Amino acid sequence: MTDALKPDAQYQILFDSNPQPMWVYDARTFRFLAVNEAAITHYGYSRSEFMSMTIKSIRLPETVTTLDSDASRNTGVWKHRKKDGSLIDVEVTSHGIVFDGKQAQLVLALDVTEKLKARFALQEKADELASMTQQLWHASKLVTMGELAASVAHELNNPLATVSLRAEALMDQLAHDEQKQRSLLIIISEVERMANLVTNLLQFTRRNYRQISTIDVREELTRSIDFISYYLRNRKIEVVREFDDSLAPIHADRQQLRQVFLNLMTNAGDAMPEGGVLTVRVHDQSERVVIEFADTGRGISASDLKKVWEPFFTSKAEGKGIGLGLSICSRIVEEHGGTISLKSEVGKGTTVRLTLPVANVALVEKPVVKSSMTASTENMHDAGTRHAGSSWMTSHQRR
Ligand SMILES: Nc1ncnc2c1ncn2[C@@H]1O[C@H](COP(=O)(O)OP(=O)(O)OP(=O)(O)O)[C@@H](O)[C@H]1O
Ligand SMILES: [Mg+2]
Repeated sequence: MTDALKPDAQYQILFDSNPQPMWVYDARTFRFLAVNEAAITHYGYSRSEFMSMTIKSIRLPETVTTLDSDASRNTGVWKHRKKDGSLIDVEVTSHGIVFDGKQAQLVLALDVTEKLKARFALQEKADELASMTQQLWHASKLVTMGELAASVAHELNNPLATVSLRAEALMDQLAHDEQKQRSLLIIISEVERMANLVTNLLQFTRRNYRQISTIDVREELTRSIDFISYYLRNRKIEVVREFDDSLAPIHADRQQLRQVFLNLMTNAGDAMPEGGVLTVRVHDQSERVVIEFADTGRGISASDLKKVWEPFFTSKAEGKGIGLGLSICSRIVEEHGGTISLKSEVGKGTTVRLTLPVANVALVEKPVVKSSMTASTENMHDAGTRHAGSSWMTSHQRR
């Protein structure tokens, strides 16, 4: 619909004094026919510059093709260029009129740049909030899982002890019956497995009873390796030790540390059913002891990599794994002020990397005098270079 704008002084005043930029342009040639003061101030062009321009001069080249004599198509949010070259977001309302006998468009241009910026900022905050909610949900899931695990473990402890005691008593009674004894042995070993599971579950939830002592990580690694050497040998897995000669001590709970090492080495062993090499490295670097378990196993797919830290995520067959190993490790390491990260390539292998803070030497009863400090520093540097640019997946990234 088109209206004839009467050459009325009052309309002229309304047009000129409108605080929002307004103009009239020729619907056929797109030339400006009139602009108000607000347009001149806001866009920076003088009135005569405006009059020598078309509407295309202030629109971005890529949006010019959408210009149409149909007013409804010109209404919307567009980018306009001001004289100083800056771009603004403008909400345009366009209205068909007859001006000086020509078909024209009367335009009201509302600068919404700040409004859009605020909307984007708000969107960003909303996204941030959504991701934090996700993290909180994950944390609460962990807590719930932990509580659930603790109560189940607690309830299982007593019946397990009873079964174990009864089975052992029966063993004595059936000393003459080898076949029944064999069955009983299976029952006893399965009960033992369940008891281990319960211990693991309790470990998963236990937070308080830590016994901190000063520890040489190499000794604990050696003990842990010895402890599962039978399991590893059975799977034709060769263990290579790359231990730094001089290593700072750490403060840690010995049992928990062993649990971490055993969990990680068991995982490595499970990933190499056809045999392979497990390299265990340890060195110190920037006030931290860095421990690595690198296997040549089947690796972890990109989709699983996101889930491995989740409690109860397992890719193992039923009865083989319950998916708590890495969650336990992650919790223990974090409680020790350390970090745990994992890097894997399908078909090539997986490396799990731990860092634990070096003990405050002032608190260590027997300070370890590091005679080969320089050599150690070089090793640190080597290690840093070795990992430069590699993408370690930390237990936090999952959240
Ligand atoms: N070294 C590794 N190589 C390949 N996959 C691994 C390795 N370590 C962990 N994973 C993957 O991460 C999953 C989760 O490991 P996690 O130790 O938490 O549980 P699990 O070993 O399956 O069971 P659990 O440790 O409770 O007996 C494993 O099922 C496996 O898919
Ligand atoms: Mg495991």
